Amino acid sequence: MTPHVNPSFSELFGHPAQVVVHAPGRVNLIGEHTDYNGGFVLPMAIPQQTHVELRRRDDTRVRVFSANKSQGGAPSEYTLGQEATGQGWLDYVQGVTFVLQREGHRLSGVDVRLSSEVPLGSGLSSSASLDVALLRALRTAFSLPLDDVQLGLLGQRVETDFVGAPVGVMDPMAASMAGLGEALFLDTRSMNLERVPLPPGVDVVIINSGVAHNHSSGDYRVRRAECEKACALLGIQELRDLPESELARTETLPDPLGRRARHVVTENARVLATVQALRAGDLERLGQLFYASHDSQRLDYEVSVPEIDLLVDLAREDADVYGARLTGGGFGGSVVMLARDGTGAAVARRICERYAARSGQRPTILLPQPTGA
Ligand code: GLA
Repeated sequence: MTPHVNPSFSELFGHPAQVVVHAPGRVNLIGEHTDYNGGFVLPMAIPQQTHVELRRRDDTRVRVFSANKSQGGAPSEYTLGQEATGQGWLDYVQGVTFVLQREGHRLSGVDVRLSSEVPLGSGLSSSASLDVALLRALRTAFSLPLDDVQLGLLGQRVETDFVGAPVGVMDPMAASMAGLGEALFLDTRSMNLERVPLPPGVDVVIINSGVAHNHSSGDYRVRRAECEKACALLGIQELRDLPESELARTETLPDPLGRRARHVVTENARVLATVQALRAGDLERLGQLFYASHDSQRLDYEVSVPEIDLLVDLAREDADVYGARLTGGGFGGSVVMLARDGTGAAVARRICERYAARSGQRPTILLPQPTGA
C-alpha cells in the first residue's frame, strides 16, 4: 500500500507514537443474550485484534486516523470535553474520552492511529476491542489507576452511555480479560470469572456469514425490553433469578415473552453444562450443547437469519463437526463450530464453498487462521 492510502503514525502526525497497544476481538462459545439478564457467558479471545498507536498532546485536540475507515483521508478531529455523537466510528473514540473524563480521570489531547483486523458487524466484537484497546492506550499514556476489570466495565459504559448501544458487559470484559485457547467463564452478576482451557483434540472454526448486523439498531433493543417485561410479569429482578427447575413458569407468560425467557433460562444452564463438558474433555456433549443453543436462538429467541441457519445446517451434515451455533448478538454475523482435531481448515473451506454457492454471500474464515497469517 502507498503511504498516502495507509500512512504510518509518523507520516500522519509528524512524530512517532508513545504507546502501542492491542485488544482482541472475541468469539462467544456459548451463553448468548444472557449477559444483560445477569447470567453466564463463555467467550474466548480471537487472534484478530484492534491496534492503537497514541501520543499525548499539550492541548485538548484529539486527532484520530482509522486505517479501516479514514480511507486515505485526513484524521478526524474533536476537542476533549466537547464529545458529541452522530459521527459514525468516531463515536466509539469520543465515547472513551467522554466516559474517562466523566469518571474524573484527567486527560489531555492525543493523536491516535487505529487499525483493526476484527471485521465490523461480524458478531466478533469489533467495537469492544476498539473501546478496550483505546482505554488501554490512555491508561498507559496518562498512568490511569484502572485495573483490567474496571477497563472492561468502562468499555460497556462507552457503548451504553455514549454510543447508545444497549449492550451487556460480555464483549468489553472479553476484550480486556480473555486469552487465546481458553474460555473465560464469567458470571455477569457477581463478575466472578474463571479461565477454562479448551480440551485437546478440537479445532475451533469461525465463519463470518457476510451478513452484517448493527446493535444500536432496533432488534437487540427489542429483545432486552422483552426480557424486562418477562421479569415484571414473573415478579423477579432478572431472568437469572429463574432457575431451570422453575422453567415451567415461563409457560405462564404470553408469547413471545415465554419463549424469550425460556431461551435465557436454558442458555444459562447450557453454559454451566458446557464448562463441565470442557473440563471433562467431552467433545460430543459440547457439540450437542452448541446445536441446542443454536436451536434455542433460532426458535425461542429469534435472533438468527436464514444465512446463519444455512451455515449451521451445513455443519450438521459434516461428519467432522461436533457442533455449531450462531455467536454474538445475532441478526447476521458469524457461526462458531467445533471440529475434529486437525480438520478445522478443511471443514471451514468446504462449508464456505457450499454456503457461498447456496446463499450468494461472501463468507470469510476467521479461524483457523491460514498458516503463516
Ligand atoms: C452482543 C452484545 C453482548 C451480548 C451479545 C449476545 O455481542 O454486545 O453484550 O449481549 O450480543 O450474547
